[in-house]
Amino acid sequence: MELGEAIRRRRMTRRFDPARAVPVQVVERALEHAVRAPSAGFSQGWDFVVLTDPADRSAYWSATTMAGPGDEAVWGDRWLRGVSAAPVLILCLSDPQAYLDRYAEPDKGWEDRDPSRWPIPYWDVDVGMAAMLILLTAVDEGLGALFFGVPAGRHDDVRAAFGIPDDRRLVGVVALGYPAPDAAQAPRNPSLARGRRTGVIHRGKFTTP
Ligand SMILES: Cc1cc2nc3c(=O)[nH]c(=O)nc-3n(C[C@H](O)[C@H](O)[C@H](O)COP(=O)(O)O)c2cc1C
Repeated sequence: MELGEAIRRRRMTRRFDPARAVPVQVVERALEHAVRAPSAGFSQGWDFVVLTDPADRSAYWSATTMAGPGDEAVWGDRWLRGVSAAPVLILCLSDPQAYLDRYAEPDKGWEDRDPSRWPIPYWDVDVGMAAMLILLTAVDEGLGALFFGVPAGRHDDVRAAFGIPDDRRLVGVVALGYPAPDAAQAPRNPSLARGRRTGVIHRGKFTTP
């Protein structure tokens, strides 16, 4: 598929077909593309935990949806039903220490490993870039995908469920699968009512309308 078409066609899918497995080679291709993402200093401080086994996927959903103290409804039921049908979940993790260590090397020279040198958390940015490559690969393969966040208060539960070290950040999750046959009839995501913003391209200097 031509790149412009893949970019235009990419929309988040929130209803997956539980009956249609994703071929292993498609998952592998998505992951191969993910690790081609750019990264600051080529630090590549990312990890991807790939959940295809139904027990692992349910462990993810249990870790993020079971009621806990002080917990409000974490997700709507309909959202959960649609997204938890996805046969593949890819947890996308960032590793800040990998950047601090990389930039302490002689060609960069930030031996103090001071996090205040990083006004922008490029470890998370780079994982976002990698996740985008997974989303675009999904379009190219005729699949649906959703990037979504791990709810606040559940990050430690997810770490515990999958043996993820404390120093990794759970930037988000990509759900992958074929869209459910009725996905096109699903109610439109209310966020889309905002419309696409205009006036965001500033040429020469920042201008306000
Ligand atoms: C960083 C990020 C976090 C998001 N988190 C969620 C989420 O937790 N749940 C969800 O359903 N969609 C989530 N989305 C999807 C957005 O709602 C979606 O991208 C946006 O509404 C535009 O729709 P489109 O991607 O279909 O064009 C997230 C997207 C991004 C980029």
